[in-house]
Amino acid sequence: MAVFTVNGVQVTPSKNQKLLRFLRDALHLTSVKDGCSQGACGACTVIIDGETCKACVPDTDSLMGKSVITVEGLAEREKEVYTFAYAEAGAVQCGFCIPGMVMCTKALLDKNPAPSKEEIRYALRNNYCRCTGYVKIIAAVKLAAQIRKTGVIPEKGETSWAAVSSGWTPEKGARNRPVSRRLLYGRNADRQPAPKQIPQGEGSLHRHRKGKGSARRGRRLNGGGRTGKKYYRPSAPGPVCVRSRRTADPLSGRRHCPGSR
Ligand code: FES
Ligand code: FES
Repeated sequence: MAVFTVNGVQVTPSKNQKLLRFLRDALHLTSVKDGCSQGACGACTVIIDGETCKACVPDTDSLMGKSVITVEGLAEREKEVYTFAYAEAGAVQCGFCIPGMVMCTKALLDKNPAPSKEEIRYALRNNYCRCTGYVKIIAAVKLAAQIRKTGVIPEKGETSWAAVSSGWTPEKGARNRPVSRRLLYGRNADRQPAPKQIPQGEGSLHRHRKGKGSARRGRRLNGGGRTGKKYYRPSAPGPVCVRSRRTADPLSGRRHCPGSR
């Protein structure tokens, strides 16, 4: 059995298993999220000996002598900084990806206290967020870097840091942009055909294509034009219904429509 430390405490798993399962099931460290269990999403990211690692990948037996850190193991000041930075930048929506993002932020800033936007993007390249679009997460990392550098947490609502560090301001932020039809309804939203116009008449209209074998019943209405379509106002509920009305029920002798039973 491997012996290693988790958040500074020495542990010995009772059996070989994925680190993610050990952290969540045995140690109940639920900041380590189980997003995909196969190393694709980054939600389970922890820090092992200073490097980020997806906890669903390594087996516990391979961690002999290593040091694992999760969000629960951050210092109080670090928790304060990352909590403020992510909240102030508006980088949290559902929050599922955030523990993994925070561990990546810590690993990056421990090595590079003033990362560029490209370096931040590279550090977060393995972490998926289905909510935010990453712009505000990058702003949050910039804000965390600034706080770590100056040691001062800005006043709540102070936004000059954002303009300086990332070009993002609340006025320019995605939150205030009009939401495009395409974003709401999908990429073909602008190409949706206009709803077909059916000529207005009394009652409901049934349209039948010429030569398709549909029952043509009722009074012919104007419409169709060059398309060759003809419009009828039904005078009877439908072929099945009409036929059955002519057939008496063998038990009751009633003539009725089976659709109305
Ligand atoms: Fe580990 Fe998705 S749960 S990468
Ligand atoms: Fe929801 Fe990132 S905030 S997945």
